[in-house]
Amino acid sequence: MSRILVVQSSPNLGASLSRALSNAFVDRFVARHAGTTVVTRDLVAEAIPHLSEDRLQALSAAPEALTPAQQAAVALSDRLIDEIRDADMIVIGVPCYNLSIPSSLKAWIDQIVIPNRSFRYTEAGPVGLMTGKKVYIFITSGSVYSQGPEKPHDFALPLLQGILTFIGLSDMTVVRAEGMGAMPDQAARIVAQARAEAERLAD
Ligand SMILES: Cc1cc2nc3c(=O)[nH]c(=O)nc-3n(C[C@H](O)[C@H](O)[C@H](O)COP(=O)(O)O)c2cc1C
Repeated sequence: MSRILVVQSSPNLGASLSRALSNAFVDRFVARHAGTTVVTRDLVAEAIPHLSEDRLQALSAAPEALTPAQQAAVALSDRLIDEIRDADMIVIGVPCYNLSIPSSLKAWIDQIVIPNRSFRYTEAGPVGLMTGKKVYIFITSGSVYSQGPEKPHDFALPLLQGILTFIGLSDMTVVRAEGMGAMPDQAARIVAQARAEAERLAD
């Protein structure tokens, strides 16, 4: 029995490829694994606020001294971190936007990377606390970044992988659908390959 947390970040609600691929994976996984439960954190349907001054101040305040606004800010990031903690598997759909990840996903990251909740500092350096979970990333981009002339601009995926590893989510599998914009004649093949890979991974 698995609990999946699905995190979606494409605002292209009607025709998003990253949503389609991640949903294809989840639908197949649920069909193949009885008893799987799915929780969706849709960062577009319900936007996560940017880190606020209240949240920052709460990082260094004693819990009993928090103002109501600071308590509310802590409660939000606690809720988002609990969603990760309670999941066995995290599935992330992410388009490449302007060489990076959508700001909706960055806002989520800023709320979940919290000391003593999702990671802690030790004498040996920071240690992630969100361990023992499997992560699947479905990332889409119009250009090709995994190889070739645009590889120096491959920022989105390494950024996401780096910060997830930082909080202990190091067991990651990535499905990339890339180059549909740069090579429109190849787009159908690229998408079909990524979908087949998503479904194969779910089996
Ligand atoms: C605002 C915006 C910015 C984009 N920036 C890039 C980019 O920097 N590099 C790239 O290869 N594709 C870029 N694209 C193309 C998307 O990454 C591509 O269409 C992707 O498949 C979108 O995923 P989605 O269908 O899940 O929304 C951009 C698209 C939009 C709408």
